[in-house]
Amino acid sequence: MKKGMLAVVLLLVIVGIWGCAPPQPTSERWYTPQQVADGKLLFASHCAGCHGDQGQGGSDWDRPKADGSYPPQPLNGSGHSWHHTLSSLEKTLAQGGTHPGATMPGFAEVTTKPQRLAIIAAFQDLWGDLIYSKWLYRAGL
Ligand code: HEC
Repeated sequence: MKKGMLAVVLLLVIVGIWGCAPPQPTSERWYTPQQVADGKLLFASHCAGCHGDQGQGGSDWDRPKADGSYPPQPLNGSGHSWHHTLSSLEKTLAQGGTHPGATMPGFAEVTTKPQRLAIIAAFQDLWGDLIYSKWLYRAGL
């Protein structure tokens, strides 16, 4: 193999490995500060009652209650809301809990889609850069 060819192959391998590596923590977000500000107000009136004013969730949130239903999960990045894509989060906010025994109400009647996206921006703004990057890599927009 000629030297030039070898260099090209090596370069492709390096770029390939680089491309597969998980992203480094990013501080770049999909939303604007205005969405976070709007979302915070909506979160306080619609969500904080169950998920906590800082999105900390209910206690023992990962264990079912006596009736088999689950307490509200944290939304501040310590739970598993970062496993869901933006559109599936938006769907949860619109429709509420859909699995059997779910108790979260839907908000499609009382919020618009831009408002629901703003609410998501508000709780994602509580996530550290590492969790946000993991979300982008695993689920994302
Ligand atoms: C009446 C209590 C209640 C209210 C109000 C409520 N939730 Fe929930 N939420 C829950 C419960 C309980 C769950 C767990 C699933 C279930 O049982 O429905 C849940 C689940 C979720 C999940 C899925 C989390 C995960 O880790 O999979 C998200 C996201 C969520 N809620 C966001 C919100 C947002 C945002 C609001 C406000 C617009 C809101 N919830 C209002 C009770 C509530």
